[in-house]
Amino acid sequence: MYDIIIIGGGPAGYVAAERAGEHGKKVLLIEEDKLGGVCLNTGCIPTKSMLFSAKTYNHALHAEEFGVTIKDASFDYSKVKERTENLQDKLRSGIAALMKMNKVEVIKGTAKITTRHSVAVGNDEYETQNILICTGSRPFIPPIEGLKNNDKVITNVGILAIDKMPESLCIIGGGVIGIEFANLYAMAGKKVTVIEMLPNICGATDKELGKTVQKKLKAMGVDFHLKATVNKIDDGKVSFTDKKDKTTTIEADAILIATGRAVNTENIGLETIGIDFDRKGIKVNEKAQTNIPNVWAAGDVTGRWQLAHFASRQATVAINNICGRNDICREDAVPSVVYTDPEIASVGITEDIAKERGIEVVTTKYPLTNNGRYLAESNGERAICKVIADKTTKQLLGVHMVGPHSSEMIAAAAVMIETELTTKDIEELIFPHPAICEVIHDAMFNLK
Ligand code: NAI
Repeated sequence: MYDIIIIGGGPAGYVAAERAGEHGKKVLLIEEDKLGGVCLNTGCIPTKSMLFSAKTYNHALHAEEFGVTIKDASFDYSKVKERTENLQDKLRSGIAALMKMNKVEVIKGTAKITTRHSVAVGNDEYETQNILICTGSRPFIPPIEGLKNNDKVITNVGILAIDKMPESLCIIGGGVIGIEFANLYAMAGKKVTVIEMLPNICGATDKELGKTVQKKLKAMGVDFHLKATVNKIDDGKVSFTDKKDKTTTIEADAILIATGRAVNTENIGLETIGIDFDRKGIKVNEKAQTNIPNVWAAGDVTGRWQLAHFASRQATVAINNICGRNDICREDAVPSVVYTDPEIASVGITEDIAKERGIEVVTTKYPLTNNGRYLAESNGERAICKVIADKTTKQLLGVHMVGPHSSEMIAAAAVMIETELTTKDIEELIFPHPAICEVIHDAMFNLK
């Protein structure tokens, strides 16, 4: 009898296994593919590695602005891919070692819940006190004519597997995945077209930040078609109708589908034991507990924030509760990042959300061009830090940034929001100088 059986070895599942092992629990982790989930195998890690190579290449191309001459810079995709795969292997071995260290049993196979206290893998059945479902999500494939069985159509999985970058890429969906790939391909010198049905890119991200990145990508040659509906795909030809009702057909060597994600709730036995779920995911409370008290769920499959770091936290909350510590998953300070150049990073509410919720706020927009370190290390392109606080209490409610190192600085902002600091509290903190993070400090003095 296990204490916990965990289904799925991504950032929810393997982190849960590690935490439970640390608590001395008898844990079985079942994964049908490679450890690390989408994040390590086909998501966060390989894309960040490739984006870093493309950013390095672009820095080399523009080195002269900084007084450095580099001749014959080139982007060698086979080497970029090899480096990426090597680091993925290294990280996967790290996870396997962590499992061993924490005495987690790992088996490869497809798990199916058979009762509230048992899980089958093939003909083998395993008994357990608790079940934690961390089966994640997969690319959502929209019902577009000509999309299925089309060799030119790929998802984030296929695009990372190819050995040669296509010369032209049409991306359907201008959300986070679409825009990161648009940036990667544009930096590598490829022709990119983005077709997005909303009027803005990057979904719910503060619109001004999305626009800043869009402008930069446009300057690199990326074509954007917003408020556009794809009608059909015929081989490599994508036909779409734009906001002016004009129908256009463009041709590309590859078509990337980045239209959101579907939760993996099928064939795991949810119906067998009556777990409450719908097409958005498994329903859980703040403790990551389903309607069946000894069955828990964490990560993308719960349809909350589809972010690796949220998955890990939600899974840890489940384990803490299983181990007797009362813990809840708070969602006011979940940071999110788009790893473009410049990076977008956000935490807390945007001005739009404040309006929707009827929260009276004060906001300020602080330009990074006022910052010494930023000017020393950039060409002074547009970059901003937006700060939002409650109008009456001056409690910090949101920080939204576009510019270099935003992904690193946002962690500090998340701590400030989570710990309910006011602008006055933050004014009293000491920031390093010269550092770009000073803009968060400086912005507080503007919030009157
Ligand atoms: P998404 O929800 O961010 O964006 C999908 C976009 O596709 C939306 O803007 C939507 O309006 C558009 N769309 C949907 N159907 C369409 C159609 N038929 N034609 C044109 N546009 C259409 O989903 P995405 O980019 O696939 O990412 C999935 C998840 O992965 C997200 O929740 C994201 O947060 C996460 N992710 C996070 C990353 C990060 O933290 N840096 C990186 C990549 C993904």
